[in-house]
Amino acid sequence: MLDTMTITKAGGALCGAFLIFLLGKMAAEGLYNTAPASHGGEEVAQAYSVDTGEAGGEAAPAAEEGPDFATLLASADAAAGEKVFGKCKACHKVDGTNITGPHLDGVVGRVVASVADFGYSDGMKAHGGEWTPEALETFLTNPKGVVPGTKMSFAGLPKVEDRANLIAYLQSLGG
Ligand code: HEC
Repeated sequence: MLDTMTITKAGGALCGAFLIFLLGKMAAEGLYNTAPASHGGEEVAQAYSVDTGEAGGEAAPAAEEGPDFATLLASADAAAGEKVFGKCKACHKVDGTNITGPHLDGVVGRVVASVADFGYSDGMKAHGGEWTPEALETFLTNPKGVVPGTKMSFAGLPKVEDRANLIAYLQSLGG
């Protein structure tokens, strides 16, 4: 015969079992919840490895500077260079006369600052050397940087293709 005490003990046992079940379930969920966290960590590691891939890709733009000036000059387009020369026309003529700048017919291979009746700056006179295609290419990239004190007020031609085509055009002119 069941007395009140037995019923209470049985109920307590059931409650205890249920409590243990709940605790176990919570513990299991706790374990389960840590799994996505560690997975997230793996994702961070993967993102990092993707970054490494991008860092490798950064070498590509540097390689794109590849076609060097000599190669471009060999296949340069003098007709396109004549159009680029439009940027120089305000100061340079190619008929043997000087205006703001010295005449540029025959400039390729000419000694720097050698047009007798042109008043060069001290910076240009001090530069020395000869206007080889390479020297022109360097000068036209950044005139004031290459010839400090030059009175040529021109920012430069940023595109190597423009410089190659322009120098091919200057080369095609007589002296
Ligand atoms: C705003 C005027 C101006 C423009 C634009 C200009 N130049 Fe000049 N250039 C000068 C002057 C002035 C000098 C003389 C520089 C000096 O004595 O410092 C000069 C000098 C030069 C020289 C040296 C010539 C020599 O006899 O030693 C070259 C080469 C040259 N320019 C090429 C060019 C080319 C190519 C362009 C166009 C892409 C150009 N310049 C655009 C004014 C100009």
